[in-house]
Amino acid sequence: MKRSIEDLLDRAAHVISTARTVTVVTGAGVSAASGVPTFRGATDLWKSFRPEDLATPEAFARDPGTVWEWYQWRRSSIADCRPNRAHEVLAVWSRRYPRFHLITQNVDGLHERAGTADVTRFHGSIWDLQCAVACAGAPRTWSDHTVEFPRLPPPCPHCGGPARPGVVWFGEAIPAEAIIAAHRASLCDVCIVVGTSSQVYPAAGIVTAAGSRGATTIEINPETTALTRAMDISIALPAVDALDRIEWRM
Ligand code: OAD
Repeated sequence: MKRSIEDLLDRAAHVISTARTVTVVTGAGVSAASGVPTFRGATDLWKSFRPEDLATPEAFARDPGTVWEWYQWRRSSIADCRPNRAHEVLAVWSRRYPRFHLITQNVDGLHERAGTADVTRFHGSIWDLQCAVACAGAPRTWSDHTVEFPRLPPPCPHCGGPARPGVVWFGEAIPAEAIIAAHRASLCDVCIVVGTSSQVYPAAGIVTAAGSRGATTIEINPETTALTRAMDISIALPAVDALDRIEWRM
C-alpha cells in the first residue's frame, strides 16, 4: 500500500523520537539548499570536466595545477555557503540524543559549522591539505582556509614539496578510523540516509548494514535511489522540507 507523505513523516518522527541510538548518513543533497552543487546532478560543471576525472590521484599526478584550480573554485563557492535548516535540525538531534552519530560524505564542513556533535567525515575536508609525497615531517592533514593560493600547487610547509587537498579521492582508502566509527554506528535503533545517491561504497553500505543489524531505515531524497526499495520508510522530499517537518512533529 502506498502511504501518504504525511503518514511517512509521522512514522519517521515516531521512530526517531523513541530511538535511543540514532545514526545519520549524509551526502551532497543535504547541502543542495545551501548552494553547494551535488556531484552527479551538477549542471554547472567546472570547465566541462566531470568530478570523476579530477578527483583522482592519477589526475593530480598528471596535472596538479588543474586539479588545484578546480578545488580553488569549489573552496571559493563553498566559502560563501551557509548551513541550511537540514543541517540545523541534524545539529539539534546530535545534542538531543546521547548516542547520535553522523557520517558524511560531504567535504564542505557545513555539518560542523551548524554545530553537529560527533561527525565522521568519510571523504575528508575540502578545508584540509596534506603533503602529496607524505613527507615524514607533516601531519596527515592540516587545516588551511586559503581560497586563492599565490602559487599552485601550494607547498607543504614541512618539506616544500607539493601539497594536495586533504580529501579522499576515487580509488583511495577511507580513513581507518572512519570505517571503524561507521561500523560501530551501524548498530543503532534508527539509521537515516539523507541526500545521497548511494552509489559510492563503503558509505552506501552503512544503512544496509544497519538494517540487517535491526535498525529501522529511513531515506530522505526527492529522487529514487538504488536503496529506496530496501528502506523501511522512504520520504521523497528535499532534505530541508523533510527534516523540518519531522522535527515539528517531535
Ligand atoms: P550525488 O551527487 O551522487 O547524489 C546527490 C543526491 O542528493 C541525489 O540522490 C539527489 O537526488 C539528492 N538530492 C538533490 N537535492 C536534494 C535535496 N534538496 N535534498 C535531499 N536530497 C537531494 O552525491 P553523493 O551521494 O554525496 O566522493 O556522492 C557520494 C560521493 O560521490 C561524494 O562524496 C563524492 C562523489 O563522487 C568523492 O569525491 C570520493
